[in-house]
Amino acid sequence: MMFFFLALFIIILCIIALFSFPQFSPIPYFPSNMKDKEIILAGLNIKNDQTIFDLGAGDGVVIFEAAYEALKHRLNTRFVALEINPILITLMYIKWLLHPNRKNVKIVWGDMFKIKFKSQMSNVKRITFYLYISPWLIEKVITRIKKQIPHAQYVSYYYPIKSLKKKEVIREGVHTLYLYE
Ligand SMILES: C[S@@+](CC[C@H](N)C(=O)[O-])C[C@H]1O[C@@H](n2cnc3c(N)ncnc32)[C@H](O)[C@@H]1O
Repeated sequence: MMFFFLALFIIILCIIALFSFPQFSPIPYFPSNMKDKEIILAGLNIKNDQTIFDLGAGDGVVIFEAAYEALKHRLNTRFVALEINPILITLMYIKWLLHPNRKNVKIVWGDMFKIKFKSQMSNVKRITFYLYISPWLIEKVITRIKKQIPHAQYVSYYYPIKSLKKKEVIREGVHTLYLYE
């Protein structure tokens, strides 16, 4: 019994550490507000032959809604949910198992500052990145993406991408959505 409580205590400590320490996750987990679902889905502009990445996908709230939308319109859109936190990855796998469009959704446990984006894609006509990440890290990840994929669309929730200011289109919801072609 004592061993059980000790194990439980250690597991809880590990979970708290994974969500609290910047060494494990420099960008804290906040899901996109689903009151903004419609503007987010419209902003992603889901099409055939498109790959949509959610960089730091959290529990997959955006990617799974977008995958429902693609299925509804019989689109072959591919979705890549990249996440660094193993607990959120586990949660996404459970959701993935139950999702009717799971064949088009890929869950990737990895670091957006290390991953090779091209190795995760199959539909390459149109590539879209959904971002809801700390403003001090947005430019760093955009620079990485641009080196690997020069022509991509970006949909940024809450935070503008200053280096793409000239191409900015704004959609207002509970929070602002910034679109860049
Ligand atoms: C603000 S949340 C956004 C979650 C989700 N995109 C959404 O909109 O609901 C940011 C997420 O990025 C993840 N994250 C932080 N650093 C990361 C990294 N280097 N690579 C991949 N994911 C990361 C965090 O664990 C967290 O789940």
